[in-house]
Amino acid sequence: MNDIKIKKIQDANIRGKKVIMRVDFNVLLDEADDVKSTYKIAVVKDTINFLVEGGASHIALLTHFGRPEGKRDKKYSLENMADDVTSIIGKEVTFVSDCIGESVEEAVSGFAQGKIMLLENIRFYKEEKEDKKTFAAKLCAPFDVYINEAFGVSHRKHASVHAITKCIPSFAGLWLQQELEQLYRVKNNPIQPAVAIIGGSKIDTKVPMIEEFAQKYDTVLVGGKTAVEARDRGMKFGDNVIFPIDFEYKYYDIGQKTIERFCESIGRAKTIVWNGPMGLIEQEQYKKGTMTLIEAIANNEDVFSLIGGGESAQMVEESGLMDKISFVSTGGGAMLAYLGGEAMPGIDVLKCKNKSQCVV
Ligand code: 3PG
Repeated sequence: MNDIKIKKIQDANIRGKKVIMRVDFNVLLDEADDVKSTYKIAVVKDTINFLVEGGASHIALLTHFGRPEGKRDKKYSLENMADDVTSIIGKEVTFVSDCIGESVEEAVSGFAQGKIMLLENIRFYKEEKEDKKTFAAKLCAPFDVYINEAFGVSHRKHASVHAITKCIPSFAGLWLQQELEQLYRVKNNPIQPAVAIIGGSKIDTKVPMIEEFAQKYDTVLVGGKTAVEARDRGMKFGDNVIFPIDFEYKYYDIGQKTIERFCESIGRAKTIVWNGPMGLIEQEQYKKGTMTLIEAIANNEDVFSLIGGGESAQMVEESGLMDKISFVSTGGGAMLAYLGGEAMPGIDVLKCKNKSQCVV
């Protein structure tokens, strides 16, 4: 079990209760505006079933989508997503045109027992990012119980994961618990040899993770834009931090010699943790490095592998090797924050203050 003793949905009294559940449906859409990557939606299925079977009277799903910066913007409305969510979770989900106020209250009072609602984008309100208590009170007014099932946004001090927990009894969903357990395992109890793979962009968010893993892990493999930027900035790390020795066109992917070097470490590893792709995967021709590394992990039958970050998870989904990866985290920034030892406001507020609050 992990170090965080949190209030869990299994200990909540949900029979006959109206439940609001924060999820992270910040997913990629295709050209036709259909959900391209279904994983972040599919992972909440078990918790929804748990609530339905446990007799919750209403279930409202609350999420952000994109960064609309506190204004209503049709482009970021969840209206079109309701049908996709219905088919992914296998239960009818009805869109509600707001996340606070009359439309939610009417939907709750007019809806039949056990109905599932998808509330409008929480980031249409600037108060969300400001973690406003008055806003949180409006969010939870029609509900009795709050569930956090949105690991991917739990590193943010936003009203829908933080202030809201002060208004009604609040618990961690089944998926959130899994995320914390698996991340705790790679962070604190890795079986050696352990290999961390860090790629993607946003180097400033990656450096704490490189430094942290260089101390605990056998090898840290660095690729993607992070490797190029670290080199350009003249950054120095320990001898166990390995950078690419060759690249494809303009550093857009790691080269063949690097792939071979990285696969060699992957082949011997007993633990692997990975965040961020090795190349510019938006373009088909630069996916090779990332895909080959995923295949190498899938071929290592003795490894515990954890992969996270939106783009890396998308590549695992595309590779068709999802069932060969031990755990795919829904967290991008949240995974980095947790592994880098930063505060997790959405998790900290669910911690039990005393033993009787928590059955662990
Ligand atoms: C993600 O996609 O990583 C999460 O949904 C968080 O999104 P944000 O970075 O816009 O807060």
